[in-house]
Amino acid sequence: MPQIAKFPGNDHRPSCGIASIGLQLPPLALAVEELANLRGEDPAKYTIGLGCREMALCPPDYGVVDLATGAARRALERWGGDPDRIGLIAVGTETAIDMSRPLSAWVADRLELSGAVRSYEVKHACYGGTLALRQAAEWRLAGAAGSHHGQERAALVIAADVALYEPGDPGEPTQGAGAVAMIIDEPRIASIQPLSFPWSEPQFDFWRPVGERFPLVDGPLSLDCYKRAASHCFQALAQHSGEATIENLAAACFHVPFPKMVKKAVFALGAALGWSEEHTALFFTDKVDPTMSWNQACGNAYTASLWIAVAQALAGLPAGETIAAFSYGSGFGAELLLLEAGVEAAAGAWRQDFEQDLASRESISIERYQQLRAGDPVRQRPPVSATG
Ligand code: HMG
Repeated sequence: MPQIAKFPGNDHRPSCGIASIGLQLPPLALAVEELANLRGEDPAKYTIGLGCREMALCPPDYGVVDLATGAARRALERWGGDPDRIGLIAVGTETAIDMSRPLSAWVADRLELSGAVRSYEVKHACYGGTLALRQAAEWRLAGAAGSHHGQERAALVIAADVALYEPGDPGEPTQGAGAVAMIIDEPRIASIQPLSFPWSEPQFDFWRPVGERFPLVDGPLSLDCYKRAASHCFQALAQHSGEATIENLAAACFHVPFPKMVKKAVFALGAALGWSEEHTALFFTDKVDPTMSWNQACGNAYTASLWIAVAQALAGLPAGETIAAFSYGSGFGAELLLLEAGVEAAAGAWRQDFEQDLASRESISIERYQQLRAGDPVRQRPPVSATG
């Protein structure tokens, strides 16, 4: 008997959601203070001004395929279902390694997943993983998943990225990497509300033209776009007459390019909702800030960033509690999702992936960082401006 979700507008539909989570961080990290010393900046600019702590980094023989595969393997093992029941593999990434062959094919190769499977890559900057998750959930809810030996097919969704900027770029201290994989099946960890709150505008705030190794960024424009998107999405949630309100959220997770961005966005959406500064500050301290400590340990993992915050917020959450997940991808597209904790959220089994990777990773010196970046040209061009 399928579980019925409590979400408004979903009363007549079987629920689907996250049945398993796996995380993977790369094996190296650099403290941002080390980078500040190299670039002649006050370390407080990175730690207090941006809210950053450490950047997760990949050694030369390690990359996005390793991250995506590692997270997927962990999610599949934890799920414990028959791998032949996986009918969809969708990988959200902007760390493309091929213009044609999807990252999902590399992952499927390594995990020996083939057959009656729809397998593809989704690109929309940091929003790609969320789109992959939405497509997987909608595929199930639409009844398109079909069945295998009488059981509805499940989806493997992966959000994986390696975020690097040109050495010397203002974005450099926000670099990071990581992957989150989720099995979309019965909502044992969390159900996903079918109704979500999107907002998009075509902008050039952050983009990487074909052939460019590093992104081009209009920093101030990107901050404005992110704040505007968050304000619109949360206003839409506030206007929606549902059981889940902003006030009764257990946590609000955000895409975390750097933690100060999230704080700025929360104050922007608070102002848009007519909240007092005190109320907004309390909301940030109670519901938002506690979701970002895993992000601070790995930096901006682009499309994995939101799902790292969600993984942290769900770990230990009692069944029935609702969290919000705000996804932002430059270009730009944004979407606010609601997730309701299921019975297995409280145990938070995937926490061990994060703790294990953190314990085993190597904190590198600034000299080693310079060696890793040795082939990369140091930034020469002036910052990109919105006005050209
Ligand atoms: P910047 O221009 O070097 O920094 O780069 P700044 O001068 O604006 O300073 C940053 C903050 O540090 C300021 O705080 C300073 O006051 C403070 P604020 O006033 O904004 O609150 N500060 C200090 N604080 C303490 N002690 C000091 C000190 N000095 C200064 N001594 C910028 C900042 C964000 C532009 C840069 O890091 C950047 O370009 N980042 C990349 C773009 C980005 O992350 N944008 C975020 C929104 S877009 C997004 O999220 C999408 C993305 O993830 C990509 C995707 O979708 O794929 C990026």
